[in-house]
Order: sequence, then C-alpha cells, then structure tokens
Amino acid sequence: MTQPAAPYRLVVVPGDGIGPEVIAGGRRVLEAAGRLFGFGFEWREVLIGGVAIDAYGVPMRDEDMAVCRDSDAVYFGAIGDPKYDDPKARVRPEQALLALRKGLGLYANLRPVTVQPVLRGSSPVRESLLEGVDMLIVRELTGGLYFGKPSELRVTPAGREVVDTLAYTEQEIRRVVKLAFELAQGRRKKLTSVDKANVLSSSRLWRTIVEEVKAEYPDVTVEHRLVDACAMTLIQRPAVFDVIVTENLFGDILSDEASVLAGSLGMLPSASICERRTAYGLHGMYEPIHGSAPDIAGRDVANPLATILSGAMMLRWSLGQPAAAEAIERAVADALVAGYRTPDLVAATGDQPGQKRVGTQAMADAVVAALEAGASQKVGAASAGAGAKVAVR
Ligand SMILES: NC(=O)c1ccc[n+]([C@@H]2O[C@H](COP(=O)([O-])OP(=O)(O)OC[C@H]3O[C@@H](n4cnc5c(N)ncnc54)[C@H](O)[C@@H]3O)[C@@H](O)[C@H]2O)c1
Repeated sequence: MTQPAAPYRLVVVPGDGIGPEVIAGGRRVLEAAGRLFGFGFEWREVLIGGVAIDAYGVPMRDEDMAVCRDSDAVYFGAIGDPKYDDPKARVRPEQALLALRKGLGLYANLRPVTVQPVLRGSSPVRESLLEGVDMLIVRELTGGLYFGKPSELRVTPAGREVVDTLAYTEQEIRRVVKLAFELAQGRRKKLTSVDKANVLSSSRLWRTIVEEVKAEYPDVTVEHRLVDACAMTLIQRPAVFDVIVTENLFGDILSDEASVLAGSLGMLPSASICERRTAYGLHGMYEPIHGSAPDIAGRDVANPLATILSGAMMLRWSLGQPAAAEAIERAVADALVAGYRTPDLVAATGDQPGQKRVGTQAMADAVVAALEAGASQKVGAASAGAGAKVAVR
C-alpha cells in the first residue's frame, strides 16, 4: 500500500499495574514494524485509570478523552488498582474504561481466540479438543447492563434493594449483528448468536433481529445458542465455533472463559471499534483482554504477547497496514516456536527442554528479533528470485 506521508497519530494509555510494562514491549514491536515496513508513529501518552486518580483526582479528564478522540487509534494497557477496590468509593479506575467506550462510540469488541500449536499443553483443556480452535467473539460494548439506567442501590422500609437495567435499542443490536455477519463472510461463514431468549425480553429482540438480518447474508450459516449451553460447548467442543456475536455481559464472560483455551489471559488481544473512519481505517482502541494484574505488577514477569497482538490488530483495523500486522503475528508464533516463555505459559507444564523462561521485556525483544529475521528472510528470498519485488522496506 502507499505509505502515509505523516506518522500515524497514536494515543498510548499505559494505565495501572502491568499496563506500563506490557505497553512498553508493545511499542517496541510496533516501532520495529514501522522501520521494516516504512511508516512511523507520533505517540501521545495520557494518564487514565488509578494513575489519573492519583494525579488529578478523577479516573479520566475531559481533555484526555478529547486527545483520544483526536487520534488515529488508542493503544491501551490496563487499568485497575486494589487501593480503589472499595465498592463504596466514588471514583474508581474502571469508570474511565466505560466512559472511553461510550465517549468514543466503541460499539463492537472483537476478540479472536486461537491456540498457538506449541502452547496446547499450557491449557487445562485436553489437547485433542484444541485442534482447529479459531474463533472470533464479537461482543456488543456500549449497551446492555453495563450502561442501562437506573443502576442503583435503594433503601426501602423493607430493607436494601438494587436495580440494574438491561436495555438495547433495535439499532444497537442491528449494527453489531451486521458487523458480525460481515466478519463471518470473510472467515468460515458460520455465525453463532448467543442469548438467553428463553428468559429475557432483550434476548428475544436480539434473536428476532438476527433472523431479520440473515436474509442479507445468504452465504452465512446462522445458529442460536443459549448462553448457558454455549458456555459448556466452549470447553467441550471449542472448534465448532467460527464467529460468535453476543451482548455486552455475555460477551465479557464468554471471552474470558475462551481465554482458557489459549493457555493464558496474557495471550489474547482485542480491538474495540467504532463507526467513525479516519484517513486509514476505523477509529478504535486496542488492548489485551486481561486486567492490570496487580499480583505480578512491577516484576517484569507479565506476558506482553496479548498487547503485542493487539498492536497487530491496530495496524490492520485502524492504520491500513495488514502486511505489517501479519508479520507481527508470525513473529509472535516464531518466538514461541523458538522456545521463549513468560512464567504464565509454563505454569501448567513446568519448564521443558528447549524452552527459555524470559521476562516481559525479553519476550518483546524476542518478538522484535523474530520480526527482523522474518523480514531479512523475505528480502533474501526476493533478491534471489530474478525480478522479484522486495516485499519489505
Ligand atoms: N480492560 C481493563 O483494563 C481491565 C480488564 C479486566 C480487569 N481489570 C482490572 O484489573 C484489576 C485486576 O483484575 P483481575 O485480577 O480480576 O484480572 P487480571 O486479568 O488483571 O488478572 C487475572 C489473573 O491473570 C494473571 N494475568 C493477567 N494478565 C497477565 C499477563 N499479561 N501475564 C501473566 N499473567 C497475567 C494475573 O496475574 C492474575 O493472576 C482489577 O482492578 C480489574 O478491575 C481491568
């Protein structure tokens, strides 16, 4: 593709806990991809989360939200700090995440779940069940229980009561369902819509809309599953899924469950995208699915691969650089095949011959080295072939 005349304008949100560590590794990999493929980045760093409460007294300032909006994409680590865990606290880091999703209009969260062949032994699920697992979970991100009003605790003469509201408009359901159909068309053409239509009115409208939309995508096979049954099948027969589309709460739970298949929360990336287009693609926010992992923060042991793979998704969805995205994904696989393992990846198996236990930054360096090695192999292969085009710069 034609390379951009100016650097991509990225906002980086390291956040709390292991966020700054994994983001540092992810940035080095993106910079290396830029050098190899001929593009650059202008980074603006903002404080959001517990670090923002410490600095400004609020989890996110309005001006920082504006900076995120005025960018080509947002690269996000993780937020959350145990010192703000008190459920009675008025300000909490996680409020910023919900505000960012709503404020940027990030209506769809895409979570690919694949299992690297060399990591099959790291999952508690039997290896034979992991063969062929390759699914994409599409989670609605700005509606449902996480945003419905009222959401409050009430004190009544009979005691305390609480209410949360699960509300969806027809348009909110339709746009995420259509996106899921389109994504299924580019994959194995199978869509599983997950709901609780035997109990919830919102799920019955969800199911009705999926049935209405499917006429526009005759090449896609559709099935409906109840969320409880789907949770079982995800572990019993995970390879049957291609694209899963579901509402906010069900998607949150099912995608964390699916991470068990990949061997560690530290392996799974995500993209949250909105309808707004930038010069290069859809505006979006890219982050690992894990949280700030305070139990391991500051020790250089966190797995940076989910963050690095989120960077690859950013190149593909927001920056129009699919070849660089693929190169990073290949480099992650190559680093794992070469034996590099962060501690989470050997927790189930123990150290094996040929494996090298490394920390966060050394794992990122291994990915950079694999990326550069992959590029020089391509250049070598290209110059060896008469008249062949050099694939990378
Ligand atoms: N998007 C986000 O920023 C996000 C998402 C989930 C949770 N959180 C917040 O994170 C904090 C901690 O939450 P939690 O403990 O429930 O979830 P978590 O994902 O932070 O950690 C769960 C477990 O997985 C491990 N883990 C997570 N990421 C890892 C990595 N990259 N490498 C190795 N091990 C990893 C942790 O050490 C921990 O044992 C809370 O404040 C929570 O609200 C934030």
